Amino acid sequence: MDESCYWNQKTFAIVTGASRGIGRTLAEKISKQMGADSVLLLISRDEKDLDSLQKAIETDRPSVRVHVGVTDLSSCDESALNGVVSSALAGESAESFAHALCVHNAGSLGDATKRCTDLVSVNSCVQYFQLNLASVVVLNAIFLRRFASSLSPVQQRKTVVNMSSLCGVEPFSSLSLYCTGKAGRDMFFKVLAKEEPDVRVLNYAPGPVETNMRTQLLHQSWTEEIKSGGLGLTTEMTCDRLMAILAGDSYASGAHVDYYDP
Ligand SMILES: NC(=O)c1ccc[n+]([C@@H]2O[C@H](COP(=O)([O-])OP(=O)(O)OC[C@H]3O[C@@H](n4cnc5c(N)ncnc54)[C@H](OP(=O)(O)O)[C@@H]3O)[C@@H](O)[C@H]2O)c1
Repeated sequence: MDESCYWNQKTFAIVTGASRGIGRTLAEKISKQMGADSVLLLISRDEKDLDSLQKAIETDRPSVRVHVGVTDLSSCDESALNGVVSSALAGESAESFAHALCVHNAGSLGDATKRCTDLVSVNSCVQYFQLNLASVVVLNAIFLRRFASSLSPVQQRKTVVNMSSLCGVEPFSSLSLYCTGKAGRDMFFKVLAKEEPDVRVLNYAPGPVETNMRTQLLHQSWTEEIKSGGLGLTTEMTCDRLMAILAGDSYASGAHVDYYDP
């Protein structure tokens, strides 16, 4: 059964980094594909932006319950992440959902003014990888353990999306931490796909997208290779592409799929 068969059924979905940019647009698009009594958990640090998104979605889709989980993924621990997921479930049985989806989208660029030889603070490196790698690994485990039921993959579909980047497969000067984090995430989700054949795992590279992150990149980076990049995609374009890839369901689990792939 392809992924599109699971849309419009009762779904539990998590989108991290939902306050703005790609995550916000994606959360809106996912909400439109959710069936009655679905739950959508929105995570980021910005309560005001998450609240406004919650209101917009609940107006558009009254049958979807939206839960706001204000969390700093660069400093929270496992009990905070567990707490956010538990509050969103609000006592509902994980087995009552036909589809469980987790989109690991939150991320940061790091300081793109720096070269590899400028990275002399252990604390800054640890904090960077806590947001961009460690919190992803742990939230993912919490999510899959919650939905580790006796249901077959046909009775309950589980999907995990990692928001990846071309930087996860190609090195770019000025982006050492970013490239390293994205490469690490991709490999983590490739291993997950191997260990958990019943979970559909996608590493999606969204292309260059006009968001705060891209503005920061063009402003900070000192390399021509990056500075000469033209206008990027809109969040609509890349999220539509991701939704189509998920619905088509023809990707190999664990694969890295780029917006520009045929
Ligand atoms: N834009 C591009 O060209 C591009 C290209 C390739 C890949 N990507 C990837 O796409 C994803 C989304 O990027 P974007 O361009 O939409 O970036 P963005 O506009 O900067 O949004 C980043 C999101 O991550 C959240 N976030 C940042 N730090 C956080 C923290 N400490 N705790 C919790 N949430 C945090 C932000 O929310 P708060 O500030 O509210 O916490 C925001 O919602 C990222 O993983 C990025 O690497 C982007």
